[in-house]
Amino acid sequence: MKPKNAAGPIIGITLLLSLFYAVLRYHILGPVPWKDFPFFILNKGLSLAAFILLTFNFGLGPLRNLGVKVSEGWLNSRKALGMTGFLLVLIHALMSFLLFNPKVYAAFFEPDGTLTLLGGLSMLGGVISFVVLWAYNLSFQTFLREDQAFIRFITSRGFLLTAMLFAAIHLFFMGYRGWMNPAGWHGGLPPISLVGFAFFSFGYVINLLGRN
Ligand code: HEM
Repeated sequence: MKPKNAAGPIIGITLLLSLFYAVLRYHILGPVPWKDFPFFILNKGLSLAAFILLTFNFGLGPLRNLGVKVSEGWLNSRKALGMTGFLLVLIHALMSFLLFNPKVYAAFFEPDGTLTLLGGLSMLGGVISFVVLWAYNLSFQTFLREDQAFIRFITSRGFLLTAMLFAAIHLFFMGYRGWMNPAGWHGGLPPISLVGFAFFSFGYVINLLGRN
């Protein structure tokens, strides 16, 4: 019998909800024109979906260790969720590289066109967490599996708990000033960086308590 796997519906629903949230917050309740949907807003929706899928990927095992009943279909879907999350992050990084200029992201740049301190810290967090995810994915390739010391290091509790912090740095320095100004939230909806950070915090605590 084929093992149960819920990856398809989880990925589909996460993508739909994330894209819907981005469209609702920025186009319907916010001021962003629809012409910006195919790149600027899609990038936000995809990065949120990536973040949620990666949180599931890293959080389901530790959640089960904490005694919460996680269904077989969800547990078996972890590999597909992780791989899809990584591919979405890759798309997000490529889209962000193309968009990254002071006209689109004024908040990240000084008037002379250099990065602000917060912009630099946020992008450093993004690039490091991207490379860590890449290395984590590589560790599952068969040609590396022989290198036991490398695998042990990269899948160790200490490495993963430290590595996750870079994703938090990416979101925190990008968004915290906006998070503290609810009056400026479009339609009262929190920014995507804050939604991502909330998922992160939940996933991080579960990992802290439940990862062996
Ligand atoms: C090379 C690596 C990366 C670069 C250059 C990058 C760049 C960016 C930029 C420019 C933004 C602002 C987007 C916007 O507000 O429209 C952003 C937001 C975001 N990034 Fe990244 N990122 C990288 C890696 C990552 C990784 C690894 C993750 C997930 C683990 C991630 C998740 C997010 C999320 C959830 C947002 C919030 C979107 C928003 O608030 O609009 N990014 N990133």
